[in-house]
Amino acid sequence: MFESNCAHPDSYYDSDADLGLLTGKKIVFLGFGNQGAAQAQNLRDSGIPNDSILVANRPDSYAEDAKSKGFHVESDFKKAAAVADILFVLIPDQVQPRVFNEEFAPSLKDNATIVIASGYNVFYKLLNFKPSQDVVMVAPRMIGSSVRTLYEKGKGFPCFVSAEQDGTGSALKTALALSRAIGATKAGAIASSAREETAMDLFAEQALWPNIIMLFNQAFEVLQEAGCSDEALCYEMWMSKEPAEIFERAAEEGFVTQLKHHSSVSQFGQLNGALQLDGSAIRAHFKDILYNQVLNGKFCKEFSKIEQDLEKDGDANPLNALYTKHAATPLGVAEAGVRSRLAGLL
Ligand code: NAI
Repeated sequence: MFESNCAHPDSYYDSDADLGLLTGKKIVFLGFGNQGAAQAQNLRDSGIPNDSILVANRPDSYAEDAKSKGFHVESDFKKAAAVADILFVLIPDQVQPRVFNEEFAPSLKDNATIVIASGYNVFYKLLNFKPSQDVVMVAPRMIGSSVRTLYEKGKGFPCFVSAEQDGTGSALKTALALSRAIGATKAGAIASSAREETAMDLFAEQALWPNIIMLFNQAFEVLQEAGCSDEALCYEMWMSKEPAEIFERAAEEGFVTQLKHHSSVSQFGQLNGALQLDGSAIRAHFKDILYNQVLNGKFCKEFSKIEQDLEKDGDANPLNALYTKHAATPLGVAEAGVRSRLAGLL
């Protein structure tokens, strides 16, 4: 269902990628933030000459950072677009449509390769490409600082790769060369697609984690009503960091097999309890979110209507209004009390 556009193995390694394909190409990084700074430095340390790399950045602290690290920086986006053979689009997703469509697209070469690190704007067709251009996704699954430190340690990092539009006939090969240059094929880059990446990201954000927040709220209220103290509940449920440790072990050892570190009572309760639950209602709810909110573009359309309000102050900003509502739940009120009593002790 979420197959990539190309015939491919499931993962790509250094041996699948030819860095030579990048020889003589001008590689422009639009953005030198979280991902831009990490990927540009990794690429240069992989042997791409500094003179082949250009950072396109508005004059701000990120531009100063790029200069201090020895990169050539161009603040005139039209000039940067005109010389780009390869363009990494590494500015925040919400500003990409305006900046790319208005300031880059008109001057970009017909055979340029555009590299995105998140599927959203491509899956929802918010960026305007020429059919002759290549559009590839090289999407690290971790924050930029880890992309850099893992590279410096000689290690790879999980990354999704795909060719979304193959205008030149060699989009995937270019994507793999770029993945290798930023250090993503060392541990195996995963063949994916903008559709798959967007579906999984938005599903997690709109279905899985909202349910987890809801479950914690309900659990908190039930135990509070049963007489458990706010202090005990907050520590038991998350402030001890036990859930964080469990997820770390799940990543390292196995989603379920990490339970072997728990007591027999705990293991039995969790293994047996999970199998006793009827997941059919939640499954139907999950499918509804995936098909009728994420994949059909409904969320994207609705979000674009409120996007400009995210710059506002106070409750006119929809995010602030939502935080205010969550702060008023029994869990929110209790946690605020616990934290203020804790602060008084420090
Ligand atoms: P960021 O927030 O660190 O971007 C900062 C950069 O964007 C700076 O160079 C800044 O000058 C530029 N910028 C910000 N607003 C601008 C505007 N209005 N006009 C022109 N330039 C502007 O971005 P980040 O987090 O590195 O994200 C870049 C891409 O990487 C996004 O597509 C994101 O989804 C993706 N990604 C991000 C990850 C992360 O850990 N943050 C992980 C994997 C992918």
